[in-house]
Amino acid sequence: MSDLATAEFLRGLPKIELHCHLEGSVPAATAIDLARRNGIVLPSMDATRLYEFGDLEGFLAVYQAVSRAMVSAADFATVTYESLADGVKSGNLRYREIAFNPTNHPDLTYPEMLAGITDGIEAAERDLGVTSRLIVAVNREQSPAVAADLLRTVLAHPSDYVVGIGLDHNEKDGPPEAFREAYEIAASGGLRRTAHAGERGNVAEIATSIDLLGVTRVDHGYAVLGHADLLQRSIDSGIHFATCWGTALFHCGGDPAASPIGAMIDRGLDVSISSDDPPCFGTDIGNEYMRAGAQLGWSESAAEARVLSSVEATFLDDVDRAALRDRLRVELAAFGSGTAPGEQPR
Ligand code: ADE
Ligand code: ZN
Repeated sequence: MSDLATAEFLRGLPKIELHCHLEGSVPAATAIDLARRNGIVLPSMDATRLYEFGDLEGFLAVYQAVSRAMVSAADFATVTYESLADGVKSGNLRYREIAFNPTNHPDLTYPEMLAGITDGIEAAERDLGVTSRLIVAVNREQSPAVAADLLRTVLAHPSDYVVGIGLDHNEKDGPPEAFREAYEIAASGGLRRTAHAGERGNVAEIATSIDLLGVTRVDHGYAVLGHADLLQRSIDSGIHFATCWGTALFHCGGDPAASPIGAMIDRGLDVSISSDDPPCFGTDIGNEYMRAGAQLGWSESAAEARVLSSVEATFLDDVDRAALRDRLRVELAAFGSGTAPGEQPR
C-alpha cells in the first residue's frame, strides 16, 4: 500500500477513544465565541494564537481559561456536540469516553453541566451515530476535600452516561495518594477508575494509582518504561494505558522516534491511542492514528486490532461492551480492509 493509501486507511478506520478531555476539545474559534458571548477574556482573543504555549503548565492555564468561558448547559451541549462531530469527521470516531472537570466550572451546578453534556451526546448519537460515556475528572490542583465532595455530588445524581472517575492536571501538584477518599467514594458507587500518571516521568504515581486508588487504566503512563517490575506487574494484571500520540510527542521534544508508545506496545503492555486535547495540540483522532501508524509501521490488521483491543478497556458494563464490540466488528468489516478483525495487536 502507498503511504497515501495507508494514511487514508488509518484516518477512515472506525475508532474508539478512551482519553479525551471535553474542555481540551474546544476549537479556538468556538472558545473565543463563547468567551465573547459570556464576557470572559481569554489569554488571547486571536484564534490563531489562543493555543500557543510552551509547556504543560502553559497549556493548563489556557485550559482553565477556556473552561471559564463555558457558563451554561447550552455551552456544554455545543462543545460536546462539536467535539464529537470533529472526531467523526476527522477520524470516523464511533465511541468516546469523555473526561470533564466539574470543579473547573464554579458557576454551574453538576446537574446543569451533566444535562448540557447529555444533550450534546444524544444529539451526536442521533445525527452521527457516535456513542459516548463520561468520566468525571478530579482536578488534582484543588484539595482532596473538593474532590471527595465532587464524588458525593456525582453519586447523588446518578447517570447512565457517567461510568468512571479520573485524576487530571498537573502531576507536580496533587499526588494520587491525596485522593484516596474520592476514589473510595467512586468505587462505592460502582464507578470505574483511571488517573493521569507517569506523563512526565514520575513512575511512583503509576504504582500508587494502581495500588491505592484501584485504577485499572492509566492515562499516559509513559514512565512505566523505566521500571521493569511495575511494567511486568501491569502486563500481568491487565492494566490498560490510554496513551496519546500528540501529547506524548509534546513531552519528548517532538521527535516521533523518541515516542515511548511504540516501546510500550513492544514490551507487551495493553495500549490504546487517543487524542487527549485535540485542537489545543493541533491534532484530531484521525491524525493520531495516522502518525502512530506511520511511525510504528502498522499493518491494516494491526490498526484494526488496536481499535478492537481498546474496546476491552472501556468502562462499559459487560452487556454494553459486547454490543460495542459487535458493532465495531461489523463496521470494521464494512470498512472493507479485507482482513479479519480480532487479530492480536503488534
Ligand atoms: N488535563 C487535560 N489534559 C491533560 C494532560 N495531558 N495532562 C494532565 N492534565 C490534563
Ligand atoms: Zn489527558
